[in-house]
Amino acid sequence: MSTRPPRGCDGAIDGCGPTGNGDPVCTKDRAILFFIFCSGKSWYKVRHGCPEARAARFFSHITRFEESTMQKNVYVAREVFAEVLDFLAPHFTVQANQEDCVLSPEELARVLADKDGAMTTLTERIDEPLLGRCPRLKAVCNIAVGYNNIDLAACSSHGVMATNTPGVLDDTTADFAWTLILATARRLNEAEAYVRDGRWDKWKLKQFLGLDVHHATLGIIGLGRIGQAVARRAAGFEMEVIYHDVQRAAPAVEAACRAAYVPKEELYRRADIVTIHIPYSRETHHAVGGPEISLMKRSAILIHAARGGVVDDAALVEALRSGAIAGAGLDVFEGEPAIHPGFKELANVILSPHIASSSERTRFNMAMKAAENLVAALTTGNPPNLLNPAG
Ligand code: DGY
Repeated sequence: MSTRPPRGCDGAIDGCGPTGNGDPVCTKDRAILFFIFCSGKSWYKVRHGCPEARAARFFSHITRFEESTMQKNVYVAREVFAEVLDFLAPHFTVQANQEDCVLSPEELARVLADKDGAMTTLTERIDEPLLGRCPRLKAVCNIAVGYNNIDLAACSSHGVMATNTPGVLDDTTADFAWTLILATARRLNEAEAYVRDGRWDKWKLKQFLGLDVHHATLGIIGLGRIGQAVARRAAGFEMEVIYHDVQRAAPAVEAACRAAYVPKEELYRRADIVTIHIPYSRETHHAVGGPEISLMKRSAILIHAARGGVVDDAALVEALRSGAIAGAGLDVFEGEPAIHPGFKELANVILSPHIASSSERTRFNMAMKAAENLVAALTTGNPPNLLNPAG
């Protein structure tokens, strides 16, 4: 886990306030360097009585060295914690979008045209057309474990290192999947609105009858790090845990998760709660669609806190509308932040705005991990979470 770093450059990031239009350089260091550079150049000319051209040639080496070590320009594409900018400031000239507006592909290409590195999020698409316009770019460090916004093959062909933030968000994301499981099973959104709207006039035996989570069967699609964290939490509810993945997990993982591997169709048929934890890619596009949902029990619920596009949202709306399944808890959507309009009309779905990893500590750690990757990428060429190793 990243710890909060000491503040760099007297704690100041010049011009990098909330307006985000500044050029946060470490002015003190830069002034000292400039002073050394100018006085060194004069001393060299006087000492060697040499013409301007020779002095300029000699100092061009120093200038190149200074550029290679001090003058790297980086762009932080979305708002981050101030400590993250403080951490970057001693290493780079940092331009930060603390206004947090989402840039269009054209704006992003323009701002990255003179940058050596960038910290990005799932809202910035890094692809061939953009990379073709950013010749200096050497590193793109995503503040997310998912990286379907980055075309890795294009990055490799342009010599751009791409990184993500695995590990730091597993538990927080698993906690949130459980938030959705419990809230959806017990219809918390409907019950809360009922109280808030002043409709609660008496206790009723058959009020907001929900689904028991304890002793139910939990079906996990994808037993990676997050899927495993979700499975481990199921022990407290004394659940049966079944899972499906493209590759069966090692026996030790299955034992730690108390999870049994089953074919995909069996999982959908047997589970009371299906929860999805696979990344989005061309291969997983609509991996959970009409055919899969139609296998589920009418009493079952579907939980999705992975990535938009894994579920066919139109098919899910139809299933929820027709009562083919009892409910859904969703944190991610196809084409988010726009969502399928059908979801908003349905009471049996809980909707949240892609916040599964959003605890204060975890989002801080994600941003700091991306910053650490950026510094390592541009100073050593060896970032810890490299997604596209050369060769
Ligand atoms: C991730 O890390 O991939 C999340 O979706 C962003 O919170």
